[in-house]
Amino acid sequence: MYGIKILGMGIYAPANIVDNNALSKIVDTNDEWISTRTGIRRRHVSDGEPTWYMGAEAARKALDSAGISASEVGLILDTSVTADFHTPSMACVIQGVLGADGAMAIDVNAACAGFVYAVDMAKRYLETDKELKYVLVIANETLSKITDYTDRSTCVLFGDGAAAAVITGEENALYASYIGADGTGAKYLCSRGIPVENPFMSGNFSFDDPMPQSDGHFLMQDGKEVYKFATKTLPKAAEKACEKAGIAVADIDIFVPHQANYRIIETAAKNLGIPMERFYLNLDEYGNTSSASIPIALTEAAQKGALKRGDKVCLVGFGAGLTYGAAVFEY
Ligand code: UT7
Repeated sequence: MYGIKILGMGIYAPANIVDNNALSKIVDTNDEWISTRTGIRRRHVSDGEPTWYMGAEAARKALDSAGISASEVGLILDTSVTADFHTPSMACVIQGVLGADGAMAIDVNAACAGFVYAVDMAKRYLETDKELKYVLVIANETLSKITDYTDRSTCVLFGDGAAAAVITGEENALYASYIGADGTGAKYLCSRGIPVENPFMSGNFSFDDPMPQSDGHFLMQDGKEVYKFATKTLPKAAEKACEKAGIAVADIDIFVPHQANYRIIETAAKNLGIPMERFYLNLDEYGNTSSASIPIALTEAAQKGALKRGDKVCLVGFGAGLTYGAAVFEY
């Protein structure tokens, strides 16, 4: 099997912390509801840092910890649902800021499963392009830009942050992934872009819009539908990835799931027959940071010694799209 090795990782979390009590001052909510329904207690929120800035800072730390210079990177994959520009891509902006002049640059939008999608793309690029030595995967999100802070059902869930990983390829290493999407569920979690508006419109064109209507760009979520999708998909994706890797789910030393809701992870753990202690959680501190949530948790797990070299890891994410993905490898 051709696999990957993560050489270094880094996190950038805004210093600005918003706890549940702070939210209870702007919407009708309270710490008890938020913490018992989700497990979230605080989240880091941008104090003006744009998405690319957080990504670049996390990337610098990842390069430092890997001992790799920016000019050695051959590919930058940036995952985000909160890019600062329609064009250029976040990956290009960060490539320029870091001086990674030898790197291709691609953005990946797969929402909360984005990091797993990008790790899998990194592995496939590394496997087929022998000139390519290092891939820098960056996940950066400023969900506060698209959060409606008058809507208590969503604003308590999300936070901002970034993490990055320097990845190289490895022969005869453990690796498997199980990745997919169900676009029929697109309407359950979305944020609208700029609507069509130009001086030549007749105003007569009509079409069936699969997405819910909204006045702005705020995130809209049918929490119950996403919850159902997540509790079904999370254990299935983990199981399928392990099956493809030829190992049992019980062989995984540490699961790093998308940090959306404690109850979703608890249900998935029960369905998999795996004790909760094997799931790394930090959603109490960060909330849901979409694609950044898995790498922030993975980096923190390594920094705190919960993830050790040689451990079998399963990353598993789900999110808007609806997307899902699991990747199994050795750290
Ligand atoms: O990365 C994206 C992935 N997204 C997710 O994973 C989200 C998945 N869904 C969820 O995590 C849960 O559905 C939520 C946490 C979003 C909601 O939890 P729930 O247990 O499904 O609550 P609910 O929507 O059924 O609401 C229960 C009650 C309602 O009041 P009534 O109608 O029973 O009187 C809500 O109005 O809780 C009320 N409520 C709140 N109360 C206090 C909703 N939000 C709040 C709030 N504070 N922030």
